[in-house]
Amino acid sequence: MAGLANGLEVTEELRKVRQARQYRPDPVPEEVLAELLEVARWTGSSRNTQPWHFVVVRDEEQLRRISQIRTPINWVADAPLAIAIVLNGENAATSEAYDEGRVTERLLIAARVLGLGGGVAWFGDEGQQAEGKRILGVPAERTARSVVVLGYPTTTKDHRPNPAQGGRKPLSEIVGYDRLE
Ligand SMILES: Cc1cc2nc3c(=O)[nH]c(=O)nc-3n(C[C@H](O)[C@H](O)[C@H](O)COP(=O)(O)O)c2cc1C
Repeated sequence: MAGLANGLEVTEELRKVRQARQYRPDPVPEEVLAELLEVARWTGSSRNTQPWHFVVVRDEEQLRRISQIRTPINWVADAPLAIAIVLNGENAATSEAYDEGRVTERLLIAARVLGLGGGVAWFGDEGQQAEGKRILGVPAERTARSVVVLGYPTTTKDHRPNPAQGGRKPLSEIVGYDRLE
């Protein structure tokens, strides 16, 4: 398969995929949501098990409840949309965790190229995950530990009282050749 003529433009976009936590109140149009769900559906998974269900959350009260699971995700309350990733729970710590990361990142990339933005909101420890499952109507034997929040960002600044540090380590610190350096 030939590369895209604008491949470098695409990779430049990939480098700009940032976590957004503040959004305009505008809803995400149905056709955009449908495209995002198709991207999620076509994400590859371990042995093509597709071990997921996606719960589309747009109800304000549901978003507020999720935002209260843990202080670092309180910004979820003001977002127009979140997609909860519910895993079958058979290999939650290993292959399903990998699959969850892949589908999350694809949603964030798709959001960016469709003119939206997104962010990950992690429920937290076991008790907080149980609370997330209760809110979402997920049975105990399944796994639900995060939502991908989506909308039209007003900023990608981390406005939380304890913001995560921005930027990235230089390649010289993180790349080795043939052996770990
Ligand atoms: C597994 C995982 C869990 C995360 N949980 C949260 C979270 O609970 N709340 C939050 O605001 N950001 C969360 N983030 C977002 C990270 O803080 C963000 O990806 C990181 O700071 C880099 O941000 P940047 O790409 O905008 O530079 C999470 C990211 C990952 C990968």
